[in-house]
Amino acid sequence: MELTPLEIVRELDKYIIGQEEAKKAVAVALRNRYRRNKLPEEIRDEITPKNIIMQGPTGVGKTEIARRLSRLVSAPFVKVEATKYTEVGYVGRDVESMVRDLVEASIHIVKEERMEAVKPQAEAAAERRIIDILAGEKKHDQPMSNPFAALFGQPKLPEAPAETEEERTEKLTKREKIEKALRAGTLDRNTIQIEVEDSGGIGIEIAGIGADLNIGEIVSGMMPKKTKTRNVTVAEARKILEQEEASKLLDMDDINTEAVRRAEQEGIIFIDEIDKVIARGSGHGPDVSREGVQRDILPIVEGSTVNTKYGPVKTDYMLFIAAGAFHNAKVSDLMPELQGRFPIVVELKSLHKDDFVKILSQPENAITKQYQSLLSADGINLTFTDQALETVADFAEKANSTMENIGARRLHTIIEAVLDDISFNAGDIDPPVDLVIDADYVKEHLKGYLKEKDLKRFII
Ligand SMILES: Nc1ncnc2c1ncn2[C@@H]1O[C@H](COP(=O)(O)OP(=O)(O)OP(=O)(O)O)[C@@H](O)[C@H]1O
Ligand SMILES: [Mg+2]
Repeated sequence: MELTPLEIVRELDKYIIGQEEAKKAVAVALRNRYRRNKLPEEIRDEITPKNIIMQGPTGVGKTEIARRLSRLVSAPFVKVEATKYTEVGYVGRDVESMVRDLVEASIHIVKEERMEAVKPQAEAAAERRIIDILAGEKKHDQPMSNPFAALFGQPKLPEAPAETEEERTEKLTKREKIEKALRAGTLDRNTIQIEVEDSGGIGIEIAGIGADLNIGEIVSGMMPKKTKTRNVTVAEARKILEQEEASKLLDMDDINTEAVRRAEQEGIIFIDEIDKVIARGSGHGPDVSREGVQRDILPIVEGSTVNTKYGPVKTDYMLFIAAGAFHNAKVSDLMPELQGRFPIVVELKSLHKDDFVKILSQPENAITKQYQSLLSADGINLTFTDQALETVADFAEKANSTMENIGARRLHTIIEAVLDDISFNAGDIDPPVDLVIDADYVKEHLKGYLKEKDLKRFII
């Protein structure tokens, strides 16, 4: 399903209040991927994505937009933090790993799709194997194979005594009965013995050699498959065998090729905290490593080829979205070459009282809704009056302007403080209880918060 920009914005609206400019920019960038895919190849190759930088204060929705976006798109998507590449303490930590992670994400998507496609076949095959076991017949889904048959023809097997008509029908009805019971689920708890592929054993993994070669995987791919016997319930057997049958039906080479293609053509890499890799001073210690990270990221964003265990992957057409608060640095403090690769810079705005009122109640995962469902587990029916929300929002704005501006994160700490008593006592009140939080309740319970933060001077 490909969403139009309007549809993408509408979906984001369900979770993020305001920040229209940023929502539009990412929506257009996404749609442009789709548009580009419709073009003939010669033109397509000329069109590179317009990467985006989202800039705005703390707690206004940058990371939240990325998180929601990732759930919306069917495209391979990864979110990384630029700072993670400096933590190790030396210049140039393997930033290429972001591309490898993207390919893994892509593999996952394609595999799921293919699994889904072969599901009916896998289910049927698994069912046949379970019936075989329950009927006490030998497995018929693994016919005897003889590697020399092609050369010398099938050897003559001793003739089995011919089955009588009666025996055949008896066997058939037995299978039918089992099949019926199986489908009705009445056998689900019976224990049976199944043979499964034993994937454990060889676990040599050589990390950090760039291409991410997994020797264990290669070696085990060359060895004959080992099997082991397990006792499981029929219900478990069904799951295990379905998985096994599905993977037999998958063409891994084909999946790899498609996954690499999608990562290259549709992949989105979200680089959070990009401002944290800007050097502040004059190039010593951590600053050197920060600049180093920018220098390492540059070729990836510019377009290069990264080796992965699924083969070489080109980054030229991937979409990069970077985000940062840029408190202590400006976008123009990024390396010029890197800036040039992010032609679209969108501003996210500071949030105010009106936004806070909406954030408290409107998003599908709004914090008040979260508390309502949590407390409903203890039989408490919690509601907030409009005035209560106004009071919280008003207080949040004041607290942000007097203390540190932490954006919408402030709401979490306030609501936490307001509901502290209720959260603590909920289990001990006889349910069902209707609790209404009004403005007075909020004010009363914020006193504790003010005291804790030493904000007695605050008048609410
Ligand atoms: N515009 C918004 N609408 C709804 N919720 C928001 C909005 N902005 C922030 N929030 C909420 O506040 C919290 C913090 O937001 P988020 O993680 O997006 O901040 P950020 O902009 O990435 O800040 P930072 O620069 O500190 O990383 C999230 O839990 C999110 O739900
Ligand atoms: Mg963030």
